[in-house]
Amino acid sequence: MISDLLSGAGGSETWSERLGPGAIVLRGFATAQAANIVAEIQQIIAQAPFRHMETPGGFRMSVAMSNCGELGWVTDKAGYRYQAVDPDSARPWPSLPTLFRQLATEAAAQAGFANFMPDACLINRYEPGARMSLHQDKDERDLTQPIVSISLGLPAQFQFGGLKRSDPVSRVTLTHGDVVVWGGADRLRYHGVLALKTGDHPLLGACRLNLTFRKAV
Ligand code: SIN
Ligand code: FE2
Repeated sequence: MISDLLSGAGGSETWSERLGPGAIVLRGFATAQAANIVAEIQQIIAQAPFRHMETPGGFRMSVAMSNCGELGWVTDKAGYRYQAVDPDSARPWPSLPTLFRQLATEAAAQAGFANFMPDACLINRYEPGARMSLHQDKDERDLTQPIVSISLGLPAQFQFGGLKRSDPVSRVTLTHGDVVVWGGADRLRYHGVLALKTGDHPLLGACRLNLTFRKAV
């Protein structure tokens, strides 16, 4: 794996690891801002609490989710989609904090995607045992725009596969503050998260949070 020293958010040092021509892990990119990110998430969750959504096939997701931004990703019996209104409250999703927008745009730029302007941020909460099976992010209209994913709390095994579900999958441990960006030729790569192992993170306890930024429309 090729590693490079870069500058993370706030000027701290970040190691990057390339996963493909358009995919990179920025190690520790968000660490300096972690407490501020968590404070923002707490405010978002007060308005749009975490919930376990249902897949179109009728399964309850083990990952609890909420959203902020103009659009939020939702799933229920009717399918996967983005919508401006939280189905639980019938109100718009909380707005995207400036800090989130800045981090996402900076991380994308470090990965070679200039001017990334996310309109959707999915907030995933993993408790021990929660997992996300292999999938592609393909509900977005403009696939020239990358995905930016920030991990906080307990470490997780991120699976990064190919463009076909049956392609070989590599495993990357994502820890507190790591950011993954994938776009370009890697935009539709299958990915997932193995069942979270239990643990006690100093900031988040027995929990992992993941923020996934997208340009949905
Ligand atoms: C996702 O694919 O939406 C989540 C990825 C992660 O939790 O790292
Ligand atoms: Fe995803």
